[in-house]
Amino acid sequence: MAVTVLAVESSCDETAVAVISGNKLLASLVSTQEVHSLWGGVVPELASRLHQRTLTSLAHEAIARAGIQLTDLDAVAATVGPGLIGALLVGASYGKGLAVGLGKQFVGVNHLEGHLWSAAVAAEELPLPALALLVSGGHTELIRINGFGEYALLGATLDDAAGEAFDKVGGLLGITYPAGEELSKLASRGNDRAFHFAVARTQTPLDFSYSGLKSAASREVEKQKQSGNDNWAADLAASFQRAVVRQLIQRVDTALTADDYKSLTLGGGVAANQLLRSELEKSAMKHNVSLRVPPLQYCTDNAAMIAWVAARKIECNQLDPLTNPANPNLSLVPEIV
Ligand code: KG4
Ligand code: ZN
Repeated sequence: MAVTVLAVESSCDETAVAVISGNKLLASLVSTQEVHSLWGGVVPELASRLHQRTLTSLAHEAIARAGIQLTDLDAVAATVGPGLIGALLVGASYGKGLAVGLGKQFVGVNHLEGHLWSAAVAAEELPLPALALLVSGGHTELIRINGFGEYALLGATLDDAAGEAFDKVGGLLGITYPAGEELSKLASRGNDRAFHFAVARTQTPLDFSYSGLKSAASREVEKQKQSGNDNWAADLAASFQRAVVRQLIQRVDTALTADDYKSLTLGGGVAANQLLRSELEKSAMKHNVSLRVPPLQYCTDNAAMIAWVAARKIECNQLDPLTNPANPNLSLVPEIV
């Protein structure tokens, strides 16, 4: 029988609630905390307070939109890490309290596992084994998915995440946080060969590094500002975006060449990037694997992906005791294989 789950996501600056029944998403609401753009990044204390202010009414609205009663739920799920500890505690404590109050199961979900399966929320099945590129504001990882709960970490960023690089360079160009989407709009009007930004090399071929690119772009921004030139920002954004995406695609191509996969998928906020999506399409075609991209609303943080994972965890009996604490450093796959 299909399980009905209410899931809460509050790991960073999006308060989100979703309701799923089996595979069918009944409601998905996201409230983005715009206030952080004033500070150029997420202020943890503010994030926790705003989650607390928004969560209860959002959960009630999600239940109403789903057309069910609280008592129809079989379980309550919440993101338990990784993320900002104060923010996580608001959602996880709310979820645990609601589960206990209703006498239902609680399911703790790893935020990254949500991103990993975000293409599956709205689409057909993911052919396995799959290669997943996880690109967000805090993570840049390549993961082999052998089955639900069976993941191998193939590579990760050695310094900054791809989204973090978009946000930092966007900030230098005067774009407010989070800058990825606006930067890519600016890039669409520029010449992506105007500036040369090298693709970083790493000792292990599937790892990533963005700190060098970020510094090179910052130096170029300073140089252009001092030169008094006009009209360089779109060219710089386009050249920077090209370098970010080239590095991602290079690692994906290496991984697809090294092993057999049936599909390629991606998740995380940077998965909304159109250049990345179109370049991945070419890679998938070249390597003859199916491509599964999440719809844009499931790329950035949302609770639909958390609800989807929670429903699968219940089906697979992968439940956590209520005493499991929220963990800001929770990892999906601790070992590089
Ligand atoms: O997954 P997410 O919502 O939050 C984290 O878990 O980090 O990802 C947010 C990140 C931000 O760095 C944001 O700038 C980036 O995703 N992002 C984009 C685009 N849309 C969001 N980066 C590049 N292009 C986009 N279209
Ligand atoms: Zn995320």
